[in-house]
Amino acid sequence: MIEIGAIVSVQSLTDLAELTVQQIVEEANKAISDRGRFMIALSGGRTPQNIYRLLSDKYRNNIDWRKVYLFFSDERCVNPENENSNYGMVKNLLIDKVPGEQVFRMEGENPDPAQAAANYENTIRKIFSLRSDEIPVFDFMLLGIGVDGHVASLFPGSLLSSDENKLVISGWVQKLKANRISLSLNVLNNSRKIVFIASGREKMAVLDNLTKQENSGYPVAQIDFNKTNSTWIITD
Ligand code: 6PG
Repeated sequence: MIEIGAIVSVQSLTDLAELTVQQIVEEANKAISDRGRFMIALSGGRTPQNIYRLLSDKYRNNIDWRKVYLFFSDERCVNPENENSNYGMVKNLLIDKVPGEQVFRMEGENPDPAQAAANYENTIRKIFSLRSDEIPVFDFMLLGIGVDGHVASLFPGSLLSSDENKLVISGWVQKLKANRISLSLNVLNNSRKIVFIASGREKMAVLDNLTKQENSGYPVAQIDFNKTNSTWIITD
């Protein structure tokens, strides 16, 4: 059995959202009281959408948004207004509805994804006040997984092999026939806390393989689950 962190199995997508939001609120308040700010990276896809809705509604007043610095784990190479934009989705469900947080988005619209990745890396270096050899420590990374074991936009056979010294990478994902921009494995693996969310039978099968197979080949298998204090919140 491969150790992938704590696994919390809940009854429904509603419970998944509720529990995840409670974790975000708890970690936000801890980070703000310890270090004065909360550095969080959010992911796209369908599973987190209820989480963003809940955060901006029921739990809106449980976080001091002025001290939240909101980043993205990855982005699709489209305009922010495009329905596939991760930023666009989070903007509609969360950013537009809460007061005063700092938001740093990846330039999905940039015709040169490598430049967009370099720009985002510079933004991260500036906001985290990093020296050139330092890797940011995000307080919270909210990540989904794909049925192919991808995480953020690190897909099997693509971006993972990019330059390991980069904080942000970009590349062509053949399977999607599209470019993606993503935080690198180095950055994901330097997080204080990762919460993975997954729902549905196919993803439960991925989890099963991940815990049973040493060489699953899944990009998510390259996460350092122990160092990142990983928790899985799942529902079938
Ligand atoms: C994205 C992601 C990606 C996502 C998984 C799961 O932009 O698509 O950030 O890594 O988290 O593909 O997506 P679903 O929740 O839609 O299954």
